[in-house]
Amino acid sequence: MRVLLTGGAGFMGSAVARQLLEEGHAVTVLDALTYAGSRAHLSGVNVDFVEGDVCDASRVAARVAAVDLVVHMAAETHVERSLQDAAPFVRTNVEGARVVLDACRHASVRLIHVSTDEVFGAAAPDVAFQEEDPHAPGNPYAVTKSAAEGLIRVWERCYGYSASIVRCVNNYGARQHEEKAVAGWVRRAVLGHPLNVHGAGGAVRDWLHVEDFARGMGRVVAYNGPRKVFHLAAQCHRTNLEMATRIAELSGGAAVRCVEDRPGQDARYALDDAATRVDIGWQPQVSLDDGLRRLIVEARLR
Ligand SMILES: NC(=O)c1ccc[n+]([C@@H]2O[C@H](COP(=O)([O-])OP(=O)(O)OC[C@H]3O[C@@H](n4cnc5c(N)ncnc54)[C@H](O)[C@@H]3O)[C@@H](O)[C@H]2O)c1
Repeated sequence: MRVLLTGGAGFMGSAVARQLLEEGHAVTVLDALTYAGSRAHLSGVNVDFVEGDVCDASRVAARVAAVDLVVHMAAETHVERSLQDAAPFVRTNVEGARVVLDACRHASVRLIHVSTDEVFGAAAPDVAFQEEDPHAPGNPYAVTKSAAEGLIRVWERCYGYSASIVRCVNNYGARQHEEKAVAGWVRRAVLGHPLNVHGAGGAVRDWLHVEDFARGMGRVVAYNGPRKVFHLAAQCHRTNLEMATRIAELSGGAAVRCVEDRPGQDARYALDDAATRVDIGWQPQVSLDDGLRRLIVEARLR
């Protein structure tokens, strides 16, 4: 298949580009190369690269017309940045999603939109959100991702154009920006600096290795059944304190310290991905310790 992958120069997009190429697809990456994206993330990877903004409707339409499938991953992604200035998040994550959605609708091209567990807000300790549960986003980033999903649902109702949505949990792995928790902790650990966790470190996240996410995306691309919303989770729930402590242990014993909590911190995220796993025949393969060890080795080599 000919695939247009937006955000393919970012952390997860560059893993998905590799996976889709391995599966025999021809991949065009459309990416604005913000601070989070880099051509180096695609070094040695045989994609057609187009530098461009997903809010640029004519450029997006021209590229969409030339493919069979669009995987939309371009986004502003860092929650702390969204708390400081939500404007780029609303622009890229809502208007950019609308531009991509309309281009796919007009060209009758299939769209897979990548979203997040954060659209549901905090999950109670015994809850894992189902595909059709209502949204309750708790920070500016999350509300823009929820809004994009809202556009998809309303476009289906009003225009009969139906896109797929993939929601996933916290990813970690190679090429992640060091502003994100795990990449930042690993970097600090190998430098022998203390690892900072917000508040008491009790926030729970579900940790998925990015290569497992990319394999899941490959399965979603290949899927041609009736499911429209997919959950890719790890069922590997750890508090931030547990995660930072494990990284410190695996890397030789850096200190872990609690710092001021950030506003809008959700206590726990959780997705029920049982139905998706059955439908697409997927499950994660990389254990947390293996994934973290690989990152620590890579960070030591840099
Ligand atoms: N990282 C996670 O743990 C996680 C979890 C759930 C969902 N997601 C979603 O997965 C997707 C990828 O996340 P990531 O962590 O790889 O993000 P990232 O920040 O590493 O990469 C985002 C990419 O999008 C590009 N981009 C940003 N604005 C753009 C614009 N206006 N036009 C074109 N390109 C633009 C950037 O240059 C970058 O290459 C996002 O949609 C995100 O919401 C991420």
